[in-house]
Amino acid sequence: MNFDSIIRGATVVTGDDARVADIGIAGGRIVALAERLEDAAAEVIDAAGLVALPGGIDSHVHISQPSGPGVVMADDFDSATRSAAFGGNTTVMPFCLPKGAMTLREAVADYVAQARDKCHLDVAMHLIVHRTDPVTLGQDLPALHAAGFTSFKIFMTYADMALTDRQILDVMKVAKGLGAAVMIHAENEDAIEYLRDEAERAGQGAPYMHARTRPVPVEREATHRALSLAEISEIPITIVHVSNGEALDEIRRARMRGQTVHAETCPQYLTLTADDMDRAGFEGAKYVCSPPPRDTEAQAACWQGLELGDFDLFSSDHCPFRFADSAGKDAAGARANFRNIPNGIPGVETRLPILFSEGVVKGRITLPHFARITATNHARLYGLAPRKGMIAIGADADIVLWDPTLTRTLTQDDLHHGADYTPWEGFEVTGWPVASFLRGKPLLRDGALVEGRGGVIECGQPDQRYWQ
Ligand code: URP
Ligand code: ZN
Ligand code: ZN
Repeated sequence: MNFDSIIRGATVVTGDDARVADIGIAGGRIVALAERLEDAAAEVIDAAGLVALPGGIDSHVHISQPSGPGVVMADDFDSATRSAAFGGNTTVMPFCLPKGAMTLREAVADYVAQARDKCHLDVAMHLIVHRTDPVTLGQDLPALHAAGFTSFKIFMTYADMALTDRQILDVMKVAKGLGAAVMIHAENEDAIEYLRDEAERAGQGAPYMHARTRPVPVEREATHRALSLAEISEIPITIVHVSNGEALDEIRRARMRGQTVHAETCPQYLTLTADDMDRAGFEGAKYVCSPPPRDTEAQAACWQGLELGDFDLFSSDHCPFRFADSAGKDAAGARANFRNIPNGIPGVETRLPILFSEGVVKGRITLPHFARITATNHARLYGLAPRKGMIAIGADADIVLWDPTLTRTLTQDDLHHGADYTPWEGFEVTGWPVASFLRGKPLLRDGALVEGRGGVIECGQPDQRYWQ
């Protein structure tokens, strides 16, 4: 057999296994896996000492999303996918949110046009469902689902996006009929507004109040409610960005009742705390995201959940705003009251190095476990498997080579996102993605990005059966 390329001698992570092997690539796909491939190849890449992992799939990123008056997200598709590629990813999944009165179908057309020709890796899209009018539910969702947009995100918070319980049930019914995946942002908007009003009356406007007005019960209660609505609707559900053990316990209980529940956590809930929002001056705004990072006990609970396999997905929730910018964290001017600080932090480039270092290198999770929660499960859950997310015969050759010994200090100067800071400034990591391939072609090579390789891809039917 003739290969386009052979990746030789890496520790290859396949399913539950990690062993030294050669990977044969032809026509953009993995066509052979063997101890040794002696066949002809146009190129042989010596990967001895490196780890070959499925290219990261970050199924929770926000790119060029409409973000309120005067606020502009710091990444477009060019910068976000560049940053993602440098962080060891080969696919990202942003969310399409209609601007103003646009229909969801118009919004998708606009979003795909923004992405086209700007993607450095593959991009598949989720839909945000923030309206439940007959056109959205009866026409747009079925048409978009048929066109390869097969996962819906519902918000229980943010005044302009939150759905009522009744509306959530209406969306779930449509999702059930279509077989779409439903992901939920679980925080109780009314409770948050109540606490915010109290803070305002008390004259408390510092960034730290973002965490105070979104305490754990706000998330725990909404998680329980989301799970109950999914149970009533008889659909599987994904609870995104779980930040603490109490919300995770709700998920565990629902699973014990027999519900199919998928759970996602993010680097901020394993490595940051609410104290980061209490930094001097306006610095705390750099860490304002929802749900907020909590305390070391919540961190430990998230780590325990990760180690036990309770989390199917590890995503970044990359949602970048510039810090020193009147269109970013300070959009409301004069070092804004916490209520007006845009929610979200950058992280698409740092997600995988943080988990490789803190998870794999520190012995908390195995390499196959890393592969599942950073790539394989994302592909399976959102309809990209078996094409994406695994090193297996027939899959796209989306492969990242990691040097498991390379130590780096995360710093803004080295990152490629559009934000002007990283929440992980000075964070030491061991393990770094040194090369990657997208559909068999070099993506990261000799420390540089081969530009313009990616495109917008369609999702198939989400496979709800998979657990890790
Ligand atoms: O603060 C966050 N996470 N912003 C992004 C939007 C979301 O809730 O996922
Ligand atoms: Zn969210
Ligand atoms: Zn998000």
